[in-house]
Amino acid sequence: MTQELVTQVNGAPRALPADHVENGFFQQHILSVRQFDRDKLQYIHRVANEMRSLVRRFGKANLLDGKILANLFYEPSTRTSSSFQAAMLRLGGRTISINEVHYSSVTKGESLPDTVRTLESYCDLTVLRHPQKGASALAAQYARKPLINAGDGAGEHPTQALLDIYTIEDDLGRLDGLRVAMMGDLRYGRTVHSLTRLLCLYDTQFTFVSPEALRLPAEIREELEASGHRYAEQRELEDTIGEIDVLYVTRVQKERFEDPEQYEQLKDVYVVDPELMSHAKQDMIVMHPLPRVYELSMEVDDDPRAAYFRQMENGMYIRMALLAAVLGKA
Ligand code: NCD
Repeated sequence: MTQELVTQVNGAPRALPADHVENGFFQQHILSVRQFDRDKLQYIHRVANEMRSLVRRFGKANLLDGKILANLFYEPSTRTSSSFQAAMLRLGGRTISINEVHYSSVTKGESLPDTVRTLESYCDLTVLRHPQKGASALAAQYARKPLINAGDGAGEHPTQALLDIYTIEDDLGRLDGLRVAMMGDLRYGRTVHSLTRLLCLYDTQFTFVSPEALRLPAEIREELEASGHRYAEQRELEDTIGEIDVLYVTRVQKERFEDPEQYEQLKDVYVVDPELMSHAKQDMIVMHPLPRVYELSMEVDDDPRAAYFRQMENGMYIRMALLAAVLGKA
């Protein structure tokens, strides 16, 4: 089915109503971090700060009363789906969740465009996760209401990158002048792809740590070069750990491997543990989109530099900010 869908990609996403308010997000699809610039990020960060204080003081903000979000997931998810759901509920809206593989007409052979068109006739916005790169862009060609990419295969995961960059600014107080190391599955890790692109908007010094087989895709290396960023690629982190401000660790993406044996060889090449952390700066942070498997020891959890639980919480504020902006109430 997925192969067929790709052949239908033939043009730009269908345009949404143009009567938008000044934030630039109103009624827009969120498909890629390429849609963002520094001003838009600052806007979303400001709204997320407001959402955080509203949630902490009152637990809610009834901005989206009467609106319905469709959570359409063709791949497993814990954080992304539940934080979108919680974000919508805290804004006073409601949600419909469809986990496609098991419970919907996809098992009867229904196409992605038809499923999206069905859901948006009941809802105001669709959040889509799909195993195929480009699936959200494809669905957006058919969608008449805003669609948010919640992960398209090994492509992008824009809302994760938004919460990641928000967490970096919140924890370190700045986004320019940072040394950022990304370590693990840089090939298939969509969160790395999106965050790298966003950090290209800032003065960032990148180090990419991976085995050759999991190297950052050429497409993104070319974008780094085109934007004039310096970066290093290396097999080991050890030499550099003492110099970096952000260590972004990813899971080896088992589900993307064609050869299970190759996964077995690569799954635990890196492990962040207290020994490694003893060589890191005191004011750096360790990030991970989660879930973790082998690459991040639980012994690091109580280290104040461990930012991954803060990332997780920030995901809800960022998604509240985005929903309010897209549905016009920010
Ligand atoms: C990530 C994803 O789905 O890409 N998880 C998430 O959304 N927090 C990372 C992963 O699955 O490894």
